[in-house]
Amino acid sequence: MINTERLFIRPFRPRDAEDVFEWRSDPEVNRFMPYPCDGSVEEVRQRLEEWIADNDKFAIELKGTGRVIGDISLEWSEKDKAYEIGYNICRSFWRNGYATEAVRGIIDWACDKLGARDFTAFYAKENGASGRVLEKCGFVREHTGQYSRDNGKKVFEAIFVELHI
Ligand SMILES: CC(C)(COP(=O)(O)OP(=O)(O)OC[C@H]1O[C@@H](n2cnc3c(N)ncnc32)[C@H](O)[C@@H]1OP(=O)(O)O)[C@@H](O)C(=O)NCCC(=O)NCCS
Repeated sequence: MINTERLFIRPFRPRDAEDVFEWRSDPEVNRFMPYPCDGSVEEVRQRLEEWIADNDKFAIELKGTGRVIGDISLEWSEKDKAYEIGYNICRSFWRNGYATEAVRGIIDWACDKLGARDFTAFYAKENGASGRVLEKCGFVREHTGQYSRDNGKKVFEAIFVELHI
């Protein structure tokens, strides 16, 4: 459990499915994701089982509400020799500083508990919100590139960023 000013970052639980469905089914939240939206709470339940087993994507819970408002992932990348960070926040909670708080929280935790020093992330050039979150957390641009969704039908120009502590 990671404890920040307003958030808990913790493993997902099966009963989080309805909260998670709210953003996994929202085309606006998933606009820049390399995967499609989920179509049902049942689909989300199966996904939660995978996330819980893999233990690399965590729930962002808003303190005092029990409500899960987003996800954040921390995954070791052997290629980059760094921890890759990714996140989503439910649309009705955007622009409250929650993504920035969660990213800072997981970085502090990873440094403290895992001895992590190197982090990586990427975002679509058009996704100014995500770029700003990473900039506020100290990430700097490393290179540009591309990623795709829908079997390559949609290609995003992307910016790859790094943080070394
Ligand atoms: C990107 C995302 C996680 C940001 O979440 P958030 O909790 O609203 O972010 P924060 O409130 O911490 O905002 C951080 C900064 O981004 C800015 N920002 C937020 N939304 C923005 C937008 N739509 N356009 C431009 N800047 C934006 C905020 O103003 C803030 O900067 P400031 O302090 O200088 O004002 C959220 O928009 C989201 O879930 N988007 C869809 C999924 C996604 O893109 N995930 C990341 C994939 S790489």
